[in-house]
Amino acid sequence: MQNIFVKSVQTIVPLLSGVAVRQSRSIASLSALPETYQMLYKTCRDFAEAELKPNASKYDREHLYPGDAIKKMGELGLMAIAVPEDYGGAGLDYLAYAIALEEISRGCASSGVIMSVNNSLYLGPVSHWGTEKQKNEFVTPYCSGDTIGCFALSEPGNGSDAGAASTTAKDGGDKWILNGTKCWITNGYESKAAVVFATTDKNMKHKGISAFIVPKPIKGLELGKKEDKLGIRGSSTCSLMYEDCEIPKENILGEPGFGFKIAMMTLDAGRIGIASQALGIAQASLDVAAEYASKRTAFGKPIMKLQAIQNKLADMALRLESARLLTWRAAWLKDNKHPYTKEAAMAKLAASEAATLVSHQCIQILGGMGYVSDMPAERHYRDARITEIYEGTSEIQRLVIAGQLIKEYGLN
Ligand SMILES: Cc1cc2nc3c(=O)[nH]c(=O)nc-3n(C[C@H](O)[C@H](O)[C@H](O)COP(=O)(O)OP(=O)(O)OC[C@H]3O[C@@H](n4cnc5c(N)ncnc54)[C@H](O)[C@@H]3O)c2cc1C
Ligand SMILES: *[C@@H]1O[C@H](CO)[C@@H](O)[C@H](O)[C@H]1NC(C)=O
Ligand SMILES: *[C@@H]1O[C@H](CO)[C@@H](O)[C@H](O)[C@H]1NC(C)=O
Ligand SMILES: *[C@@H]1O[C@H](CO)[C@@H](O)[C@H](O)[C@H]1NC(C)=O
Ligand SMILES: *[C@@H]1O[C@H](CO)[C@@H](O)[C@H](O)[C@H]1NC(C)=O
Repeated sequence: MQNIFVKSVQTIVPLLSGVAVRQSRSIASLSALPETYQMLYKTCRDFAEAELKPNASKYDREHLYPGDAIKKMGELGLMAIAVPEDYGGAGLDYLAYAIALEEISRGCASSGVIMSVNNSLYLGPVSHWGTEKQKNEFVTPYCSGDTIGCFALSEPGNGSDAGAASTTAKDGGDKWILNGTKCWITNGYESKAAVVFATTDKNMKHKGISAFIVPKPIKGLELGKKEDKLGIRGSSTCSLMYEDCEIPKENILGEPGFGFKIAMMTLDAGRIGIASQALGIAQASLDVAAEYASKRTAFGKPIMKLQAIQNKLADMALRLESARLLTWRAAWLKDNKHPYTKEAAMAKLAASEAATLVSHQCIQILGGMGYVSDMPAERHYRDARITEIYEGTSEIQRLVIAGQLIKEYGLN
């Protein structure tokens, strides 16, 4: 997949207005984007169609980590898309990442979240704030595509209120000593390193939080049970319990006290990934619904000829495609070094709510067949739900958007 990308994203945004990205089942028609994006799209589309879609329901049913698929995605360069080639990444940008992650999630949303965590939540902060030595050790491939990272911010007592984190990192001279429990950690089982947030100065509240790169396994770390989830069941989620866990002094990421800022900046970018995951789930639901409606007959004709069904399909496509434009806009702003906090929150909110709505209506269009696991509709419905919860709930996205509006307009 290397070298298919030319840095010409500036040409994209003018093209975005009025573009209908009709994604047919087998042919990529993102015809308004530069060819490089189309090639990436096609690679991901074909891979998802051949390797993910046929296996996604098994991963879901059996709680199976899609190890083979993730390894192949690593070989395609999809596990480190926006990391410079010097450090073993694909050297692409966030728009490329958004397009790729949507297609992967369209085939299997569990593979999508596993990919998003390695890319945005682990590699994002390590490659942005890491020292040369840290980057060589923790970014450049140190195993043959088997290594994966995770991001440990949430705690049992504080999720949305991440600034209240109570895990501590004590200065032990030539080392840091970690104490505390992180929960809900995606890739918790498989990861070989974690970005962990812990307070180095309790009195400073969120300004006392620092970020650390912590290898796994490590003495003083125990893993909790694998959570039994509603959706994205192919990805593992568990607690990380640190007790007197000693890590080298040099493993701090950025300056002491920078952790909260690192977490918030990481989540800004991560939200573009979750928005893309949601788009993939929504697109897969629309694919199923439209195909089914064109074949299923009732009262002597295909249900697609019924206006009630057409209205549903129209609303589904509208919600999906407007969310896609918001997502691509956020990616484009990031790629061009503009502020994008508000836009990423809007994209994540719109796309996750679109995924919920579209997958819900997909079940409705399939009737009884929507409710059984012979069809993928019910899996999409379950997978969609998480996108409104992690990396900031929908309520938190509204807070972020409103916070930016208050900055723009003032409070009086
Ligand atoms: C499958 C899964 C994977 C996850 N992966 C990771 C991961 O890899 N790393 C990680 O660090 N975390 C991860 N999380 C944690 C996730 O980010 C949190 O669950 C999420 O941020 C919500 O926190 P909480 O569960 O503590 O809910 P709470 O913060 O307790 O929220 C409960 C409810 O109150 C609302 N609420 C809270 N505060 C406000 C407010 N100020 N205004 C309005 N409403 C509010 C929330 O929106 C929600 O509706 C994962 C979670 C799940 C379920
Ligand atoms: C998907 O399943 C098929 C058939 O079981 C298998 O041959 C293939 O290797 C699987 N693909 C991946 C990526 O695991
Ligand atoms: C995750 O990213 C790292 C760093 O680039 C890479 O070494 C690793 O292979 C990626 N994981 C997978 C499973 O490809
Ligand atoms: C954060 O959660 C921990 C438990 O995980 C709890 O002990 C602590 O009091 C919480 N912090 C605040 C400020 O609520
Ligand atoms: C870590 O927690 C354990 C158990 O609660 C405690 O005995 C120990 O003193 C703590 N260590 C530090 C450095 O705070």
